[in-house]
Amino acid sequence: MSSELLCNCFFHSDGNCLVMSNRFILFFLVVFMTTQEKIEEMRELKQRLLEGGGKKRMEKQHQEGKMGARERLEGLFDADTFQELNLFAKHRCHSFGMEEKELAGDGVVTGIGCIDGKQVFAASQDFTVAGGSVGEVHATKICEVMEMALRCGSPFILINDSGGARIQEGIDALSGYGRIFYRNVQMSGVVPQISIIAGPCAGGAAYSPALTDFIIMTQNAGRLFITGPQVIKEVTGEEISAEALGGAYAQSTYSGNVHFVVKDDVEALAVCKKLLSFLPSNNMEDAPDIGNGELVFAPDPALNTLIPDSPRTPYDVKDVILSVIDNRDFLEIQREFAPNAVIGLARINGKSVGIVANQPNCKAGVLDIDSSDKIARFVRFCNAFNIPLVTFVDVPGFMPGVQQEYGGIIRHGAKMLYAYSSATVPKVTVILRKAYGGAYLAMCSKDLHCDRVAAWPTAEVAVMGAEGAVGIVYRDEIKKAGDTKQARTEFIEKYEKEFSNPFCGAARTLIDDVIEPQDTRKYLSLALESLRNKRETCPQKKHGLIPL
Ligand code: HXC
Repeated sequence: MSSELLCNCFFHSDGNCLVMSNRFILFFLVVFMTTQEKIEEMRELKQRLLEGGGKKRMEKQHQEGKMGARERLEGLFDADTFQELNLFAKHRCHSFGMEEKELAGDGVVTGIGCIDGKQVFAASQDFTVAGGSVGEVHATKICEVMEMALRCGSPFILINDSGGARIQEGIDALSGYGRIFYRNVQMSGVVPQISIIAGPCAGGAAYSPALTDFIIMTQNAGRLFITGPQVIKEVTGEEISAEALGGAYAQSTYSGNVHFVVKDDVEALAVCKKLLSFLPSNNMEDAPDIGNGELVFAPDPALNTLIPDSPRTPYDVKDVILSVIDNRDFLEIQREFAPNAVIGLARINGKSVGIVANQPNCKAGVLDIDSSDKIARFVRFCNAFNIPLVTFVDVPGFMPGVQQEYGGIIRHGAKMLYAYSSATVPKVTVILRKAYGGAYLAMCSKDLHCDRVAAWPTAEVAVMGAEGAVGIVYRDEIKKAGDTKQARTEFIEKYEKEFSNPFCGAARTLIDDVIEPQDTRKYLSLALESLRNKRETCPQKKHGLIPL
């Protein structure tokens, strides 16, 4: 305030002195605080705000096995790199006595820091402040860091621990969620977005994590659902506990919403950091490369004996994955959901790759609705962030069944065709054993513009399995031969010789090479290296229409 204005407060223009009101005295005192007093005042206010909802509420948080909002950020970021934003933000609600309430930081801590040296933006909801509920200003703070993450091309992490929309703020709270959702969508495919569910995340609040790329959820405290047990009981009459409905087990195994189930906050932060280590900061960067440029590929003789002699005997495809990646270090994603497919991130010669595989150990590795969704979404994530795709195939086909048909296996399976066909990152496929029918095509075949397809000698590429096929192709001949087991076996062998091998595909250049299993890492290393500078252009369009 200028000195002229100050004078006007105390003197009429005729120069007569006024009696000072209390307001003016206060004003006078504030204006004439010493610098030291101002700093002290700021320190006190800051200290109070940094304590969030206070010691008692923080004790409760700890008793429930949860870290505080700030403790979580401290655990996430490299030491001394965190810069907080908008600590002094205040809500503007004047309903239900809210004008009397000071909500520290409006219930959320936001800012920027470094994780393993890489810049990351984050928001951490503070349950000790009005239950971490989302009001207008709370949402504005989150939106601001989201926008900055987008502008700076850095990943964004939201740690959810909240009672949902702040009831006292009505439509302003709903609008806040709408603004967050909008930004989640704008950021999608531009910067990686990770949600940690470390407390309640109920109602519409659950849609923000669902719009992000990965959800990490704690077993001890994370609860994720659209409507809680009470509402469900009133509407449908079903009785269920909050944990059984929205706990990490249910939301990973049944719904597939959760990508990583962790014990507690400490593990959540560790998984989050590990996940980020495989990802570029934005869609304009190449996937991380921590190698020294050297290709290392000693043969692994164990792979030569991995496939059982009988095509009906299962094996664990993770043995193949672990054998070909660096240091057997595989970050499996959605382990609990649709385990007949395996997806995850790894490195080959230091470079990040996305791995997709059928799992013969579960439902013979068949593709069904859930595994199709799981694979298609992951393929799109890898493509968006320039992570090459390595696909291992051992698939007997798409799952037959009335429920699968009624559930839309056609639409869901088509997602895989769509995702792989539109992916322009390097794509390398290895056919291990079965590759039947539409599922052969859907698992990144040459016809979907896979860059390199190799097959093991054990590969069987055909329209369907030999046993089913001979019943159709040789029906008359089998009948004539008296429908004996021996006749069937002979025709099966004839069919297998003709079709159930990799050489048919290799002869038609649909399989680029038939390789010894033990040399798979060498094949992948050379193929990925040769595709390093791959560029593929697509027809111009606003956007395609993936079968949702
Ligand atoms: C305002 C809230 C709040 C909310 C919790 N609090 N949720 N304040 N709005 N939504 C406050 C409480 O009043 C309390 O304040 C403090 O947070 C801690 O809450 P407690 O109930 O004491 O904690 P706890 O026993 O652990 O229970 C946690 C809880 C429960 C299960 C989350 O608070 C709860 O059911 N809250 C309401 C959840 C809800 O229905 N939200 C709306 C969802 S609908 P004090 O001052 O006592 O510490 C929604 C729509 C969004 O979100 C739509 C977007 C599209």
